[in-house]
Amino acid sequence: MAAERACGALLLVVVALMMRLAAGAEHENNERDALRAFWAGVSSDPSGALRSWNSTAHFCRWAGVSCIRGHVVSLQLSYLGLVGTISPAIGNLTYLELLDLNRNQPSGSIPSSIGRLRRLTYLGLCDNGGVGGEIPDSLRNCTGLTVVYLNNNSFVGGIPTWLGTFQNLSYLYLSQNSLSGEIPPSLGNLTKLQILTLDQNLLEGPIPEGLSRLSSMQVFDVHQNSLRGEIPPGFFNLSSLQQLNLASNAFHGRLPLPLPPDSGARMSNLRYLLLGGNRLAGPIPAAIANASGLATLSLANNSFSGQVPPEVGKLCPVTMEISGNELTATSDEGWEFLVLDLLWAWPIY
Ligand SMILES: *[C@@H]1O[C@H](CO)[C@@H](O)[C@H](O)[C@H]1NC(C)=O
Ligand SMILES: *[C@@H]1O[C@H](CO)[C@@H](O)[C@H](O)[C@H]1NC(C)=O
Ligand SMILES: *[C@@H]1O[C@H](CO)[C@@H](O)[C@H](O)[C@H]1NC(C)=O
Ligand SMILES: *[C@@H]1O[C@H](CO)[C@@H](O)[C@H](O)[C@H]1NC(C)=O
Ligand SMILES: *[C@@H]1O[C@H](CO)[C@@H](O)[C@H](O)[C@H]1NC(C)=O
Ligand SMILES: *[C@@H]1O[C@H](CO)[C@@H](O)[C@H](O)[C@H]1NC(C)=O
Ligand SMILES: *[C@@H]1O[C@H](CO)[C@@H](O)[C@H](O)[C@H]1NC(C)=O
Ligand SMILES: *[C@@H]1O[C@H](CO)[C@@H](O)[C@H](O)[C@H]1NC(C)=O
Ligand SMILES: *[C@@H]1O[C@H](CO)[C@@H](O)[C@H](O)[C@H]1NC(C)=O
Repeated sequence: MAAERACGALLLVVVALMMRLAAGAEHENNERDALRAFWAGVSSDPSGALRSWNSTAHFCRWAGVSCIRGHVVSLQLSYLGLVGTISPAIGNLTYLELLDLNRNQPSGSIPSSIGRLRRLTYLGLCDNGGVGGEIPDSLRNCTGLTVVYLNNNSFVGGIPTWLGTFQNLSYLYLSQNSLSGEIPPSLGNLTKLQILTLDQNLLEGPIPEGLSRLSSMQVFDVHQNSLRGEIPPGFFNLSSLQQLNLASNAFHGRLPLPLPPDSGARMSNLRYLLLGGNRLAGPIPAAIANASGLATLSLANNSFSGQVPPEVGKLCPVTMEISGNELTATSDEGWEFLVLDLLWAWPIY
């Protein structure tokens, strides 16, 4: 009787184990099927990079696929010239943390099933000219994203407000698309943001002030949009900032320098300051010279007036553009910067 019960218990354990194994195998088949469906969406593989995907080898050994404990965690298929569409089956790779399809030639949109990839931290879809449509709303579920490359594609519609909830987002590349509307102020909540590129889109409205207070920001690039308003002073108070590119928009007003109360001492890492092609006016502030590491300074094609402060001439940036303004040189002093600039450009040894 006792032995019978023990046997019954053992049988239960064995049955339970078999069920778990079956469930595991089913899951594995699901991921394999998802990869096969992805592969079926590829209509051309010019370099034959996916040849191994047609072998009898386990899918964890297929080119570009990395697994942990038998689950696909990474799909790295960049720079392969793959043509086709991104299969919705991608949403079944639920263990995926890294999806790198940068620089291929797919067309269509991002399947909404991407919202099932809750573990995704890296999404790379840049330089895929044919990928467009709106940024799918389901992506809002991928809250762990830290790196997002969607630049140089054909995305339309607005920049989603919910991007501001991705608390670990550090790199957000949305440049060279056809995104329109305003920059959502919610992005000012992304305290880990280091790089934000929104350049070469159709964006309007002001720069939300919160963005100029993100203390990890290194690159802020919004050139070639239709942005307007004044430049938030905070950008000149970010010691992390290396590149500020606001060129070719419709910003107006004076440069908010020097900053009270610390007079702009915080531009220590600024290397590129590009403000050309706006409607900025007033004098060129001497405090720009506090950015002593400037390599490129472009103030061209604005309405700056007055004299160029000699301090600015002492900067010796590699590139300095100031033409297309209303600058005057009423005294010798006004051109002092030029002499310094020329001396620097043609050093006499
Ligand atoms: C995949 O492999 C099978 C058998 O090796 C072959 O018959 C088939 O043509 C291959 N398909 C492609 C798309 O290469
Ligand atoms: C995803 O997996 C489910 C469950 O196995 C399956 O029914 C579905 O067809 C798969 N979806 C795609 C797009 O392959
Ligand atoms: C996103 O999350 C919501 C709420 O958790 C859920 O209802 C929805 O199905 C998810 N979307 C996708 C594409 O997984
Ligand atoms: C944009 O992507 C295309 C391929 O779609 C590529 O040829 C081009 O060089 C990319 N542009 C930049 C600036 O990277
Ligand atoms: C953000 O990163 C931290 C540290 O890696 C992690 O513990 C946390 O879960 C992440 N947050 C989200 C929303 O994924
Ligand atoms: C930033 O996050 C806080 C807290 O989650 C929220 O209350 C606030 O509305 C957010 N700001 C914006 C501009 O979305
Ligand atoms: C500059 O930044 C410091 C700290 O990051 C802050 O206390 C100060 O108020 C800021 N000043 C201006 C003018 O934004
Ligand atoms: C300034 O305008 C000239 C002439 O239209 C143009 O060639 C140049 O690229 C512009 N530079 C900037 C920085 O806007
Ligand atoms: C910044 O520039 C202003 C104006 O030229 C000057 O008064 C101030 O001393 C400078 N601060 C630093 C730290 O160089």
